[in-house]
Amino acid sequence: MALKFISAEEAASFIKNNDTVGFSGFTPAGAPKAVSVALAKIAEAEHAKGNQFKINVMTGASTGDSVDGALTRADAINYRAPYQTNKDMRNAINAGKIHYNDIHLSQMAQELRYGFLCDKVNVAVIEACDVTEDGKIYLTTGVGIAPTIANMADIIIVELNAAQSKSIKGIHDIYEPADPPYRKEFKIYKPSDRIGSTYVQVDPKKIVGVVETNKPDEARGFTAPDPVTDQIGINVANFLISEIKRGGIPSSFLPLQSGVGNVANAVLGALGEDKHIPAFEMYTEVIQDSVIELMKHGRIKFGSSCSLSVSNECLNDIYSNMDFFHDKLVLRPSEISNNPEIVRRLGIIAINTAIEADIYGGINSTHITGTKMMNGIGGSGDFIRNAYLSIFTCPSVAKGGKISSIVPMVSHCDHTEHDVNIIATEQGVADLRGKSPMQRAQLIIENCAHPDYKQLLWDYLKIATKGQTSHSLAAALGMHVEFEKSGDMHLTDWSNYVK
Ligand code: COA
Repeated sequence: MALKFISAEEAASFIKNNDTVGFSGFTPAGAPKAVSVALAKIAEAEHAKGNQFKINVMTGASTGDSVDGALTRADAINYRAPYQTNKDMRNAINAGKIHYNDIHLSQMAQELRYGFLCDKVNVAVIEACDVTEDGKIYLTTGVGIAPTIANMADIIIVELNAAQSKSIKGIHDIYEPADPPYRKEFKIYKPSDRIGSTYVQVDPKKIVGVVETNKPDEARGFTAPDPVTDQIGINVANFLISEIKRGGIPSSFLPLQSGVGNVANAVLGALGEDKHIPAFEMYTEVIQDSVIELMKHGRIKFGSSCSLSVSNECLNDIYSNMDFFHDKLVLRPSEISNNPEIVRRLGIIAINTAIEADIYGGINSTHITGTKMMNGIGGSGDFIRNAYLSIFTCPSVAKGGKISSIVPMVSHCDHTEHDVNIIATEQGVADLRGKSPMQRAQLIIENCAHPDYKQLLWDYLKIATKGQTSHSLAAALGMHVEFEKSGDMHLTDWSNYVK
């Protein structure tokens, strides 16, 4: 069946008010860049005429500004799932303008198939580096939930992006599991194992149009590592080396998962540079710039991921050296890259970043002072709950020291103390394995809290009502309350809370 080439505007006109639209990509990598911008203009024109125009957006994770930013600014989103990182979208979510469902990324595709999120997907918009008349769609830098939305959608629009090199063909491993009770085990026994095809196969009759684009991924740059993030990296590396020496980790090492953001990028860089850690493999959801650099130096042998979430400079470097990278990378759908069955089987060492941690090991990854969404849980829960070793890192203070990342009780809990093995800040490492709540509190305060907040946290333990997990319910969020009042978490003492 001949492919029909259409403009972004024509393609966007297939999308109607109230439609559920699935977008490809995972992070800005592989997300569409033209149809959503044209759709935002349609929404604005409809709003100017006094008409309703909002859609429900389903993605693999965050997207680029052309999807999340443009559609948010046009007030064109009713519902959004899962993860996001866009400033305008974050503000709209926190202002209650977008219904945002922050779910574990591994569950997104299956919850769509199970019918938990919507009755149907009306349209799938998928970025490709190639598409054939018999319905083979070759994805680009991010896979996310593309196979699922392509299969579920009534119609498919393909954005054929000339800025994405066709040389990336072949690194994808596309596999969509059957739903229970027919699901089988995933035959992935090492990060490089493949179980699927290199393209998404769709019914070609569903492809209503192909939009030609030439737009690079809308990648975000990283803040350069600083002495604090470097020290966190060194602390994690030293801990892992001591575990190898002790026999707690096999001497051949285990595959790593590393989270998103500046801290994760810096930690991974530090791990890779430390030659006491053997060259390793990754089974992760995002490959950031530091991984590519380490691959070039032979420190990372293989990377299984859901996306190449790298800077454009780094992506161009990969594209120019595809012969080198082709057998070192595989990109999978998020329900495979983040699958709990595989994470537990491979024995992943999971390293993720916290916004705040509490003295018992509870972790807040998502909400600033308990109410304002930052990004979302992403894949952190998929990995840490099932990891061989789950490590959370964060600087001990934020906002120039006005916020302590170690608090008596997290203001929002994404990961419970049952799932957190290690907390590392630039101050040191708390190994929580096998410890009681009080032993954990002592280790976290002593090893991880910033010196400016240590005494306050020790004093909290003195006013806490004793129990298995000691707390003063009146004071547990006192440091957060103080921050909201004065812009600084430094309480002079707990006397206001002790009656
Ligand atoms: N209170 C208030 N703000 C805080 C804070 C705290 N306790 N801790 C961090 N922040 C702010 C920082 O000041 C910074 O703000 P800015 O952008 O205005 O400068 C922002 O949060 C990001 O912090 P940064 O130190 O640069 O870390 P990061 O880029 O590594 O991001 C997370 C940290 C937690 C936001 C990020 O890792 C995330 O979204 N994690 C959840 C998803 C996840 O773990 N995915 C992993 C699976 S791949």
